[in-house]
Amino acid sequence: MLKDRKMPSHHGVETKVTGSYPNETLRLLNQRGSCRSFSEKSIPEDVLTQVLEAGVHAPNAGNLQVVSIIKIMDPERRKKIQKICGGQKFVGEAPVNLVFCVDWRRDKRWAELEVAPFTATSTLSWFLMAFEEVGIVAQSICIAADSVGLGSCYAGTILNRPKEVIELLNLPEYVFPVVLLGLGYPSGTIPNIKKHKLNTILHDEVYTDMNDEELLAAFNEKYTAQSTNRVELNEKRLGVLYETCEQVHGKEFAERSVAHARQQGFISPVQRYFGLHYRANLVLDQRTNSDFMNTIVKAGFDCFKDYKPH
Ligand SMILES: Cc1cc2nc3c(=O)[nH]c(=O)nc-3n(C[C@H](O)[C@H](O)[C@H](O)COP(=O)(O)O)c2cc1C
Repeated sequence: MLKDRKMPSHHGVETKVTGSYPNETLRLLNQRGSCRSFSEKSIPEDVLTQVLEAGVHAPNAGNLQVVSIIKIMDPERRKKIQKICGGQKFVGEAPVNLVFCVDWRRDKRWAELEVAPFTATSTLSWFLMAFEEVGIVAQSICIAADSVGLGSCYAGTILNRPKEVIELLNLPEYVFPVVLLGLGYPSGTIPNIKKHKLNTILHDEVYTDMNDEELLAAFNEKYTAQSTNRVELNEKRLGVLYETCEQVHGKEFAERSVAHARQQGFISPVQRYFGLHYRANLVLDQRTNSDFMNTIVKAGFDCFKDYKPH
């Protein structure tokens, strides 16, 4: 990531979502935003329990509930998980960090104790389904937190260093970390961030591709309609963009990318996303697929090869 505080936030354009909603749930869902700045006020235990209970009642595949949540409140451990998450300030600041994990361990042990057959940890689609479920449980908790005046923000960066998360949280076999949610009382107001319009993400009946003009218009509307959100050209930024492009697609592409930015008069948000922020070359270096898959396999999930019946 290019550390450059003069750049506008990569998350996009701040906006104010207004409107009248038929009920409080819809207002909350439409006006929510991620909170990255927390006050020191701790969360009363009964409030936290009510919020967490919402996760118990979330939809889940087959009502198996293959999720575990590690609640971290110890300041030292929060500091350690913050470091694993790339040092993101909000992770250390939030009085409660929740790490949501896929957990097939409980069910595997249950099956063993009751002499039932079990292949879920050898089935890729089941592993992925559990990943989906974790996100759904986490989001129920996220919205429940909003409803009682708490703020929250996810940190997907725990997936950058899953081995360290497993070690820090003592995760046993068949348990794999997915995402962290920092929870606390907001300090200040939570911004709304501009999103795609509904018709950009909604397709009637079957998938319909936008043409190039429509696609660019949709992204420009979301990110650069306000010139204050533009990433201005300077030689340092262009140099990093060039280096990233050259490493992943070669010299000719790097030259075209920089020329495109110069011609536009600014660095496009997508050049910034993958050229300067989530740098395409570093993402590859740090998280090679085989390393990641090996970590999953080492966690007990033997799901990247065909299953051989007994
Ligand atoms: C799976 C996932 C991972 C995320 N990881 C991070 C993260 O590591 N750091 C961060 O600041 N925000 C993270 N976020 C929050 C998003 O950046 C945020 O939801 C998005 O920018 C939209 O803004 P909003 O939530 O304020 O509407 C994550 C969100 C999700 C769903």
